[in-house]
Amino acid sequence: MGREICRAYSKIEYYLMQIINNRIPINKPSITKLEVSYVNDAIRTGWGQKCYDYLNRFEIQFAKYECVKHSLATSSCTGAIHLALLAMGVKTGDEVIVPELTWIASVEPVLYIGAKPVFVDVIEDTWCIDPKKIRESITKKTKAIIAVHLYGNVCEMDEIMKIANEHNLFVIEDAAEGLGSEYKGKKVGSIGHAGLFSFHGTKTISTGEGGILVTNSEPIYEKAKILNDHGRNPKDPDHKTFWMREYGYKYKMSNLQAAMGLAQIERVVELVERKRQIFDWYADLLRDVPCKMNPEQKYAKNSYWLPTLIFDKSLNIDRDAYFTYMKECKIDCRPFFYPLSSLPLFKKKRINHVSYDIYSRGVNLPSYHDLSKKDVTRIVNAIKDFINE
Ligand SMILES: Cc1ncc(COP(=O)(O)O)c(C=O)c1O
Repeated sequence: MGREICRAYSKIEYYLMQIINNRIPINKPSITKLEVSYVNDAIRTGWGQKCYDYLNRFEIQFAKYECVKHSLATSSCTGAIHLALLAMGVKTGDEVIVPELTWIASVEPVLYIGAKPVFVDVIEDTWCIDPKKIRESITKKTKAIIAVHLYGNVCEMDEIMKIANEHNLFVIEDAAEGLGSEYKGKKVGSIGHAGLFSFHGTKTISTGEGGILVTNSEPIYEKAKILNDHGRNPKDPDHKTFWMREYGYKYKMSNLQAAMGLAQIERVVELVERKRQIFDWYADLLRDVPCKMNPEQKYAKNSYWLPTLIFDKSLNIDRDAYFTYMKECKIDCRPFFYPLSSLPLFKKKRINHVSYDIYSRGVNLPSYHDLSKKDVTRIVNAIKDFINE
């Protein structure tokens, strides 16, 4: 009886907190009994002989969803990008073509290796890397292209693969934000020589922190696996415990995280559909606001990880004033990523004009799965109030 009263009190406390603190966060994972039960089971039983059970199940399920041969779960997508570059043999002094508009994590692993990122402009309609500009940027030193499916938007993969084949380059699909998006019936991440996903707490499926590398290439998978295990190669003729020929890294995902990941990937269809539902609500409610939102090409499916608005130039939006206003309304919003060449780290000339224009008018909107239509209406009303002020 005492326990029931306690439970009732904590429920009341929870609802009161919801009323007092009605802040809308930008993103958070969808957690159900399934995630809780798998993580509980992993923490109770996932040791000794069962220490990789959830990890193995998660990797198999993920590869099945992506329709690829191999997957390697990692502690972050950043780590997975690093492993992919190394497995492809990218070395100090090589050039890697990257989009101007992306999160810095797409590019930092290029720097870890001592290779040079070459920033390329994006297509105005998709906000993703422009194949024409890729072609213009290729030199003798170019080794790979990183195509980023930004905010769930889909890159022009046929053209990118064609260029890569002509010039003998590797293509890495950074699909950290693209889980569930499709290009001509194929899941993004499965088209290039390797694809990578993030399971950070803000992503469509989450393991808290985490990532995965997927590929159909046996050599890339085998090399990445060895590199992810301190360089240990069980297939070495003289292999023995604690013996390795080369040094490696450790970007492994834990079995506990994989337990959460398994529950999430089992729910992926529902989670992606919810993202699409939230996007449709925004698109409908914002139809009379002069702006563009994430595009969906006829031959693609956008999983709309992060609904994003590009305000029309005619509105002359002051982005900083917009963020201050939304903060006052208790709505978390984010700016579009800065063009990477503008960061002090790179100090490059501003030549990628499409990217600079899009970023200056772009803002991201909240899109966590539990967001209701009422919440979306509240957000849209705040945007309209700001514009009309
Ligand atoms: C486009 C892109 N690439 C890479 C990453 C890196 O992912 P992680 O934080 O899992 O390392 C992110 C994460 O936010 C991302 O958005």
